[in-house]
Amino acid sequence: MGDQDSNFLQIMYWLLGGMVAFALLLILLAMLVVSITGDDEADPLARQVLAERVQPWGRVNTGEPGTMAEAGPTEVAELSGEQIYRNNCAACHDSGAMQAPLTDDAGTWNNRLDQGRETLVRHAIEGIGQMPARGGNPNLSDDEVAKSVDYMLERLGR
Ligand code: HEC
Repeated sequence: MGDQDSNFLQIMYWLLGGMVAFALLLILLAMLVVSITGDDEADPLARQVLAERVQPWGRVNTGEPGTMAEAGPTEVAELSGEQIYRNNCAACHDSGAMQAPLTDDAGTWNNRLDQGRETLVRHAIEGIGQMPARGGNPNLSDDEVAKSVDYMLERLGR
């Protein structure tokens, strides 16, 4: 082999080596990207965060204060009466802790139910006896408390 041939071979080896190293780098980068963005489908919070991140920046507001034309992530995350109940009320009203009237037993409500929905909602918001205002969660809105009371009434067959 002449000098020129071995020079040529050397350059080819360097080139090949460089390409392999570059390919490995790309694969590593791809794996990194997948590990950052992939596989959070199962986690609802992660999905919501992702939805917030990818939603369009501008949204059309059609007028009514506080309402967006599109259902944004906040609306998606709105809790049902059942969820609010489970998070804030079930501890006492499923177990009867502190003599709380049971959501599954209208008999434990004596004549509370005859007070009507308005009064029950008001007592749930303001608190009554051993029952803390808003079930002890000051972050609940009046609306959310009302929804959880409605859920209780539904389970009580009212
Ligand atoms: C720490 C325990 C506890 C939690 C949490 C709790 N309650 Fe109560 N709740 C009680 C008790 C005890 C009573 C009975 C109070 C009394 O009349 O002395 C009661 C009574 C009530 C009543 C009947 C009020 C009336 O006028 O007689 C409603 C309605 C009610 N709760 C709704 C809720 C809702 C809705 C939540 C969740 C947002 C909730 N409660 C969370 C303990 C609790």
